[in-house]
Amino acid sequence: MEFFVTLAGPAKQRTACAIVGVYDKGTLSAAAEELDKRIGGRIARLVKRGDLRGKQGDLVMLADLTGAPVERVVVVGLGGRNSFKRKQYRKALASALGAVARTSAKDAVSYLGVDGVGDADAYAATRIAVEVVGNSQYRIPDHKTANKRQKPTLLKFGIAVSGRGDRGNAERAIGHGEGIVAGMGLMRDLANQPANVCTPGYLAKAARNLAQQHRKIKVRVLNEAECRRLQMGSFLSVTRGTHEPAYLIVLEYNGGTRGEAPTALIGKGVTFDTGGISLKPPPGMDEMKFDMSGAASVLGTFKAVATMDLPLNLVGVVPACENMPSGHATKPGDIVKSMSGQTIEVLNTDAEGRLILCDAITYARRFKPEVMIDIATLTGACVVALGNHLSGLFSNDDELAAALEEAGRRADDRAWHMPLGDEYGEQLKSNFADFANVAGREGGAITAACFLAKFTDGLKWAHLDVAGTAYLTGAQKGSTGRPVPLLVDYLLNK
Ligand code: BES
Ligand code: MN
Ligand code: ZN
Repeated sequence: MEFFVTLAGPAKQRTACAIVGVYDKGTLSAAAEELDKRIGGRIARLVKRGDLRGKQGDLVMLADLTGAPVERVVVVGLGGRNSFKRKQYRKALASALGAVARTSAKDAVSYLGVDGVGDADAYAATRIAVEVVGNSQYRIPDHKTANKRQKPTLLKFGIAVSGRGDRGNAERAIGHGEGIVAGMGLMRDLANQPANVCTPGYLAKAARNLAQQHRKIKVRVLNEAECRRLQMGSFLSVTRGTHEPAYLIVLEYNGGTRGEAPTALIGKGVTFDTGGISLKPPPGMDEMKFDMSGAASVLGTFKAVATMDLPLNLVGVVPACENMPSGHATKPGDIVKSMSGQTIEVLNTDAEGRLILCDAITYARRFKPEVMIDIATLTGACVVALGNHLSGLFSNDDELAAALEEAGRRADDRAWHMPLGDEYGEQLKSNFADFANVAGREGGAITAACFLAKFTDGLKWAHLDVAGTAYLTGAQKGSTGRPVPLLVDYLLNK
């Protein structure tokens, strides 16, 4: 897909499909008005007849037009002028794209943002358009044998802006939007694969592919023997039950100046989480193939950053393994020693994410990062607390938390700042080791974050629990690509 910015109105801009909006009570947007004058008032007539009221979701397509260089027009209802904000803008564009996709149009131009989007400037509105259009073309890499879905026919997409001064910002937004779409696409491709395809080795291969595609990315993959030499007893305790080899994948993106402290991204890469000996119940267990979403979001963010060629340094650490029960598996009550030297009583083998992340956090310290951010489908408790709309955000640094929260808001990929605290941390007490890996049902997302905090001392750190946001279930089952938009926005604003 190729994107471009245009300042020309629909009376002048040649296209196979112009997308224009009508507000409620049939008020034509400026672009609809301009076009309507040229095509003999056909839009106004629809309004007059009562066939187009401009409510959100209304959709009409006109073809066989004379008077303007457009082959088709998709008219979409925008709702109230004052309530037309980024959410309504996304929805209107998405439904218009549905109509465009049913035609043979190879190109289209959207005028939906020209009159202004309540809470988005030209940059934000253009980036949203690129994300919506780009993501509408995403296809799950399915394994269906029949009815191979066709490639989308739309190849070129124009985004109209109103003022000359907006052109530069809109063009910058296109570059950023394309990076985000590429990153989300990679994340979704990885997370949507079944666990018998997307193994720890597959993730390592995906990281190596990234390094091959982008000159500024370097990858190193540590095998289990190397992790043992590093004394990653906690990480290795999780992989004991499986035959699938585990890897610690380490990525570096060097776009900043030499010696500039990097941002470290650490992603949970459990390619399948059965729970281990603390076996999960069968319903919905297939969804635990998504338990590597944190890892996938790290690779996706690297892809985005490299695509945009951002001037910063980034480190990625991805502990990748399976959590399986077997005769070799770690048992409840087993005590393991983490790379940090701290000992952990494994009371529940299903609380495995923190066991692999703690060693990855300790490992990341060697890069002397400015900040560390881990991303993990860590707890069901976080889903109970926040549902599927917001990610859980925890941090030992309020400024970092605020920056990430702000990034989530700007990127429409929100996170909610949750508390940490000694009261919660104390729930992890053990009679047999430095602490346990679980602390009871209450405040489960917070005690999990407190566990991770024990491995960060002295470093700025944030934790994103994306158990509720990284993928959807039910009819929409699949990876969402979140929190790539949040992470990329954070890095863009650094
Ligand atoms: N991967 C799960 C968390 C999860 C649950 C993600 C539901 C997505 C949806 C994690 O490894 C896990 O099993 N956590 C346990 C922790 C508990 C044993 C303290 C949980 O949340 O039940
Ligand atoms: Mn688990
Ligand atoms: Zn898990």
